[in-house]
Amino acid sequence: MKKLVVLSGAGVSAESGLRTFRDMGGMWEEFDVYEVASPAGWAKDRKLVLNFYNERRKQLLEAKPNRGHLGLAELEKEFDVKVITQNIDDLHERAGSTSVLHLHGELRKSRSTADPRLIYEIEGWELNEGDLCEKGSQLRPHVVWFGEAVPAIEEAAEFVSGADIFVIIGTSMNVYPAAGLIDHVRAGIPVYVIDPNEVSIPGYPHLHVIRKKAGEGITDLINELRKLKQ
Ligand code: OAD
Repeated sequence: MKKLVVLSGAGVSAESGLRTFRDMGGMWEEFDVYEVASPAGWAKDRKLVLNFYNERRKQLLEAKPNRGHLGLAELEKEFDVKVITQNIDDLHERAGSTSVLHLHGELRKSRSTADPRLIYEIEGWELNEGDLCEKGSQLRPHVVWFGEAVPAIEEAAEFVSGADIFVIIGTSMNVYPAAGLIDHVRAGIPVYVIDPNEVSIPGYPHLHVIRKKAGEGITDLINELRKLKQ
């Protein structure tokens, strides 16, 4: 089977009712990213940070995978699919994708502030001050904040360099190191972009752009990929 590697972002979950970050009405218009998603913000006001992610988690529990997630999962019947996602939601998994690498962490997990190896599932939607790890330290959301390292990036880069087909879906390609993964794509392989808006990817003039929302664009992608196989 051909190796198909997907890089997904907030746009793939937009039709599930989860807001993107940089579109009009996006999350970073309402919230100051440094207040809610940085180590400095955590040091300044934990409660604000915990509330921000609690709200996200509450919405996620009510959300369902959409046609975009489901289509990517269906592609596993025909391709060896690896999804690399910048999303902290679990909608790819719930849609049935079996190989999902979360670059920016996972909303439904918490992590010890004393020992980053201690990671726990969160029951329900709340993580609060006073919720402690087994060593007695405060738990924080298991997400990557601005200014923090992205531990999964090397594994992701390896997946991308082994890809026969690369698909970018629902990401503005603004945040590094995730956006830099495209530089690991082997020369000459097909690269598809599904996004209703223009995405600037300098240095890559030969992209197959499907200028549609994920839910509709995924059907076009599946058709295109079938043609490639013939
Ligand atoms: P952005 O909000 O930057 O980009 C979302 C992309 O999705 C844009 O290109 C939109 O045009 C597109 N889009 C909107 N609706 C769509 C739909 N229905 N179908 C397909 N595409 C759609 O989100 P990301 O690129 O994911 O990081 O942002 C990357 C990182 O920045 C996030 O992981 C988060 C954020 O700050 C952290 O919090 C660490």
